[in-house]
Amino acid sequence: MPKTLVTYFSQTGNTKKIAEAIFEALEGEKTIQPIDETRQLEEYNLIFIGFPVHSHSVPLKIQDFIKNIPENKKIAFFSTHGSLTGSRLSREALEHAVILAAKAKVLGTFSCRGRVSLEALEVFKKSPEHEAWAEMAASAASHPDERDLEDGKSFSKWITTLSRQP
Ligand SMILES: Cc1cc2nc3c(=O)[nH]c(=O)nc-3n(C[C@H](O)[C@H](O)[C@H](O)COP(=O)(O)O)c2cc1C
Repeated sequence: MPKTLVTYFSQTGNTKKIAEAIFEALEGEKTIQPIDETRQLEEYNLIFIGFPVHSHSVPLKIQDFIKNIPENKKIAFFSTHGSLTGSRLSREALEHAVILAAKAKVLGTFSCRGRVSLEALEVFKKSPEHEAWAEMAASAASHPDERDLEDGKSFSKWITTLSRQP
């Protein structure tokens, strides 16, 4: 029986919401857990790995995790970000994750916007370099929304279908 793992890092809950949507749409034997509790990967046929974009990139603890994924393991990435959907900034981190996972089989990626905490927005607004970004990122406040969660579920089903192909 194929086993699927959904593992994620989430500081303020946005990525966790997407992880739960992906998990809900999965059939068969499945596990969901924070990345800090994830040890054994060998037993899973498919692994979804989620993270928030930090400083345009993959948080360091996720980078370390990705580097240790067993060779040829089927995986998929999902992320949440404050930047506008489809913007270069929103894509960069996932592209980086795929490069880091060169030895695994990356079946696909998914991302959506996620509310940036007020504390973080305040910090960014005070930096001239990030002020404009912070103003734009404030519009992510309603995300992830119902549509994002539905998209996450569709992604989950699509990746599962792909994972069953030889
Ligand atoms: C320290 C920090 C750095 C961030 N850097 C970026 C960034 O470079 N690009 C971006 O789109 N969002 C950035 N964000 C916004 C988060 O990626 C976004 O709010 C995400 O949904 C948070 O997910 P979480 O609730 O799972 O932690 C940053 C947030 C924090 C707190």
